[in-house]
Amino acid sequence: MMNPTLLAAIPFISFFFLLLARRKVISPKAALLPSPPRLPFIGNLHQLGSILHRSLYELSKQHGPLMLLHLGTVRTLVVSCPKIAEEVIRNNDIVFATRPKSKLTDVLSCNKNDIAFAPYGESWRQMKKLAKTHLLSSQSVKSMSFDRAEEVSLLIENVADAALRGNGVICLTDILNSYVTNVITKVVLGSWITKEKKALLSKLTHESSTLFYEVFFEDFFPNLKWLDVLTGSDRKLKNYMKNWDAFFEEIFKNHDHESKEVNGKNNTNFIGTLLELQNDSNLGFVLTNDHIRGLTMDMIVAGIDTTFATLDWCMAELVRNPEVMKKVKDELRKVAHGEDMISEELLGQLSYLKVFIKEVVRLHPPSPLLLPRESLQECQIHGYNIPKKTRLVINAWAFGRDSTYWEAPEQFKPERFFESTVDYKGKDFYFIPFGVGRRICPGMDFSMVIIEIALANLLHRFDWSLPSGITIEDMDMFECGGVISPRKHKLELVPIASKVN
Ligand code: HEM
Repeated sequence: MMNPTLLAAIPFISFFFLLLARRKVISPKAALLPSPPRLPFIGNLHQLGSILHRSLYELSKQHGPLMLLHLGTVRTLVVSCPKIAEEVIRNNDIVFATRPKSKLTDVLSCNKNDIAFAPYGESWRQMKKLAKTHLLSSQSVKSMSFDRAEEVSLLIENVADAALRGNGVICLTDILNSYVTNVITKVVLGSWITKEKKALLSKLTHESSTLFYEVFFEDFFPNLKWLDVLTGSDRKLKNYMKNWDAFFEEIFKNHDHESKEVNGKNNTNFIGTLLELQNDSNLGFVLTNDHIRGLTMDMIVAGIDTTFATLDWCMAELVRNPEVMKKVKDELRKVAHGEDMISEELLGQLSYLKVFIKEVVRLHPPSPLLLPRESLQECQIHGYNIPKKTRLVINAWAFGRDSTYWEAPEQFKPERFFESTVDYKGKDFYFIPFGVGRRICPGMDFSMVIIEIALANLLHRFDWSLPSGITIEDMDMFECGGVISPRKHKLELVPIASKVN
């Protein structure tokens, strides 16, 4: 006789199969979404190497440009070709306009009050508009040219000093890192950022980068959150938060006393502007301290490492491609007319420098997988049914290597950009180092001018070569594999002062 429990279960089992059959009718391709074979419990996590964008690229060669991975319990859709990315953004940008929640992003977003990690919604919209108007608009970017000029002079001095101290060889990576940190913190935080605070901030940005590599079990296996206590990840996150708390407590306490004038010039900065806006009754919404903190952290966390990584890649590619370096220098000589420094007014005339930077970010997008998104509701992509809460990863690094769009993609050839109108503003889906759609990076102009003015002067003032005994073939052009992907090894070079007139 049949087991009574089984007998009782029959209606439920039938109902279950009926449901499955119905789903099949509604979404015939739902079960067919290409996906590498997975292991129980961990899913596809074991197939991911330390350089995530490279391992996803390799997997996509076997499983196609649209594949589904299971990272623990997290369904993740990986897009590795521009055509599908275009389809996703054109038809479903709003569906994928939110960011997935994670332990780290909860902290970074200051309780969902920032731009980069906040969920899609009214607060995100207001914060993005505020940042674009008060820090990142072309007018605001222009108004900071004095701060950049000061920092570029310091950069040139630092290179010359380091060359004297180091028998000619300098660690350019460290110098570029300080330059970018100094420029960005100066315009974001103003004169408040003393030497000691800068050291604390450097520590915090470094911690942000390392925390992006930290595994939080709770994000992939919610039932295993106790493991984050055992591994020490929770403690690291708590300390990180505590340090930011201390940092901002002082800012909010001391900002009122900050001088509105420093060395006879107007000491305006982003955080000062935000604190003033807090008292502006016409703002239309309440700007809380958490908003100010979220926005400021975004400018620092999203702005510094990406801009620095690009600058470092640029210098490495120049040394690796001497004929490109010569063309950049020739162009600079023509526009400089014997002046010691290249000013920002001249940047518009440096068309070769601009295409050179584009070629660098084609091959080395500093944020190779953009930032992850998540579906707010069920949708269709390429005929497949995609459930709500599916994570979306776009492999922009792979797009820059797609031979359908780029002739000889492995060659470093800035001239390719003279032959086309392709730009990184988010319209050409095969070239999206700054992302696309509603979540596109608002810091493009801000970072580009920091990069261009530094490169122009570094190349105008110095000739660059590798330390003796090291050849171009010895240069390691590998990258780190995190959310932000700088060069793996520090760049050591020999600068020799050039004749500028
Ligand atoms: C070379 C430099 C930079 C690169 C390559 C870069 C790249 C990116 C990328 C790929 C995204 C994600 C876009 C997406 O999800 O589609 C992003 C977002 C963002 N970036 Fe940048 N970025 C750079 C510099 C900056 C700077 C200097 C700032 C600010 C000071 C900044 C602020 C942001 C913010 C706030 C977001 C979040 C936008 C949102 O979620 O709506 N970035 N960036």
